Amino acid sequence: MGRKKISVIGAGNVGATVTNKVAEMEVGDVVMVDIIDGLPQGKGLDMLESAPVGGFDSNIVGSMGYDETADSAVVVVTSGVARKPGMSREDLLDTNKKIIESVVGQVVSKSPNAILIMVANPLDTMTYLALKRSGFPRNRVMGMAGILDTARFKAFISMELDVSVEDIQTVILGGHGDEMVPLPRYTTVSGIPILQLLPEETIERLVERTRKGGGEIVSLLKTGSAYYAPGAAAAQMVEAVLKDKKRILPCCAYLEGEYGLSDICFGVPVKLGANGVEEIIELELTADEKELVSTSAESVKKSIAALKL
Ligand SMILES: NC(=O)c1ccc[n+]([C@@H]2O[C@H](COP(=O)([O-])OP(=O)(O)OC[C@H]3O[C@@H](n4cnc5c(N)ncnc54)[C@H](O)[C@@H]3O)[C@@H](O)[C@H]2O)c1
Repeated sequence: MGRKKISVIGAGNVGATVTNKVAEMEVGDVVMVDIIDGLPQGKGLDMLESAPVGGFDSNIVGSMGYDETADSAVVVVTSGVARKPGMSREDLLDTNKKIIESVVGQVVSKSPNAILIMVANPLDTMTYLALKRSGFPRNRVMGMAGILDTARFKAFISMELDVSVEDIQTVILGGHGDEMVPLPRYTTVSGIPILQLLPEETIERLVERTRKGGGEIVSLLKTGSAYYAPGAAAAQMVEAVLKDKKRILPCCAYLEGEYGLSDICFGVPVKLGANGVEEIIELELTADEKELVSTSAESVKKSIAALKL
C-alpha cells in the first residue's frame, strides 16, 4: 500500500512545526509547499537530515508546486499572514481570503479525496471558505483551534494546581476568537470537577487568559503569532485521522443544525477518525453557556458575511 501522504501548505512557523511533528510521528511522508523559493526545500531538507538523530523514517519534501502533493490523504493549510501586535484575527481576512482561495483550488485539483485541516486565520471563516471552494463534504473539511485553545486552558490549570497537564480534561466551544467559550463545568482533573478544586474567581481568571491566549503570545513575540502549540495541535488532528483513532477533540466543523446553528463553521467536540469529522457531539448547556455560544456564533457569522461569497 505504501505510506500515506500528508501535505502541509505554508512552510512558515506553523507549517514547519506541523511538518516536523508529523514526520517524527511516522504517520506518513510529508510534502511542504510555499511560494518563497528555497524555504520549503531548505526546511524540508534540514528536517530530513534530523531523521537519523531523531530516529524516524518519514520522507520530507519541500516544493514550490502542487505536483508532489498529488493524492494526499491529509492536507494541512497553514498558508496566510499571521497577526502582529495590535491586530485581531479578523484583520487578516482580506489577505488570507485570497491566499486560501488560490491554495484550496490547487490542493483539490491534485488531491480530490483528501481531508483538509485548515489553520489560517480567521480560522472559522477560512474553514468555511475552504469548505465552499473545495466542494468537499463537511466531514472532510475542518479547522484547528479547539485543541490549541483547550491546551492553553489545560496549561494554565496545571500551573495553578501544580498537577500534570496529562490529567486535565476540558472542552471549549465556539469560534477561535476572544469570544470562545471555555466550559469549566466540563473541566476535570482525573475526573474531579475543577469547580471543586479552584475558587470561581481563579477559574474566571484562567478562562480570560485562555480567551486571550493567542494575543498574549503575539504581544511577547512582536513579529508574529504562536506556532509550537498550534503546530502540535494540528499534528494531533493529522494523527487522529491517519490512525483512525476516533478521538473526541474540539475542532472547527460545519454545522447543520447542531447547537441550533447552521451554515457556519464553529468549534465543537467531534469524533476524529479516518473519515475526518465522523460525528459532531452536542453537549447539554446551561442558559448562560448557551448565551455565550450565541455571542461567539454571532461574531463568526459576521466574519463569514465579510467573505461576501
Ligand atoms: N488556527 C489557529 O489556532 C492558528 C494558530 C496560529 C496561527 N494561525 C494562523 O496560521 C497562519 C500561518 O501562521 P504562521 O505563524 O505559520 O505564519 P508565517 O508567516 O510564519 O507563515 C506563513 C507562510 O505562508 C506562506 N504563504 C503565503 N501565501 C502562500 C501561498 N499562496 N501558497 C503557499 N504558501 C503561502 C508564506 O510564504 C509563509 O511562509 C496565519 O494565518 C496565522 O494567523 C492559526
